[in-house]
Amino acid sequence: MRNFTDLRITNGVEMVRLLAVSGSLRQASSNSILLRAAERLCPEGVLVVHYEGLAQLPHFNPDLLEDPPEAVTELRAIIGQADGLLFSCPEYARGIPGAFKNMLDWLVSSEEFPGKPVALFNSSPRASHAQAALRLVLDTMSARIIEEASITVNLLSSRSSAESIATDPVTGPLIGTALGAFKRRLDNQNL
Ligand SMILES: Cc1cc2nc3c(=O)[nH]c(=O)nc-3n(C[C@H](O)[C@H](O)[C@H](O)COP(=O)(O)O)c2cc1C
Repeated sequence: MRNFTDLRITNGVEMVRLLAVSGSLRQASSNSILLRAAERLCPEGVLVVHYEGLAQLPHFNPDLLEDPPEAVTELRAIIGQADGLLFSCPEYARGIPGAFKNMLDWLVSSEEFPGKPVALFNSSPRASHAQAALRLVLDTMSARIIEEASITVNLLSSRSSAESIATDPVTGPLIGTALGAFKRRLDNQNL
């Protein structure tokens, strides 16, 4: 996984660093593809790094909080370095997929997560229960959901690639506008 540490200043420009996390472990995941499309469309001065450690996180256990496993320490470090989080999460059995909720559970008591700006991307208009549950969880964890940067892009039964989603005349501008709004919010909070 790329790390943000050496990327804060790129070509003399101070970058806004977004950590993208897909809630799906599926190889051909529409949520992951949506985040890859976002990477292609990110405005100048924005850097997207994809978190690839979801499957390696151990099951959450409060007993381990005092001396967390290395994968958790790494997760917290990269969350701490990120200026904003870009989440795209599917719905399983009307809820949040276990792997993604497991990651959130590891972050509940962290210093790094509270106050983090989050853009919620969603690749299915049917995933309303998971979206509502996710909002409740994120709210409980004191995340800041940025509404104007949160979008649903209908990729249900789509076999599109990240490239074709990024260049599509409907989905491309939708994603680009959301990322532009996210950057503006992050820029303004740093003034
Ligand atoms: C075990 C399982 C349960 C699912 N439950 C729901 C559900 O309750 N509601 C829904 O809208 N879709 C449900 N789906 C469909 C997925 O949300 C959908 O296929 C989505 O595209 C998966 O995201 P991904 O493409 O990023 O892997 C379920 C899929 C699986 C595999």
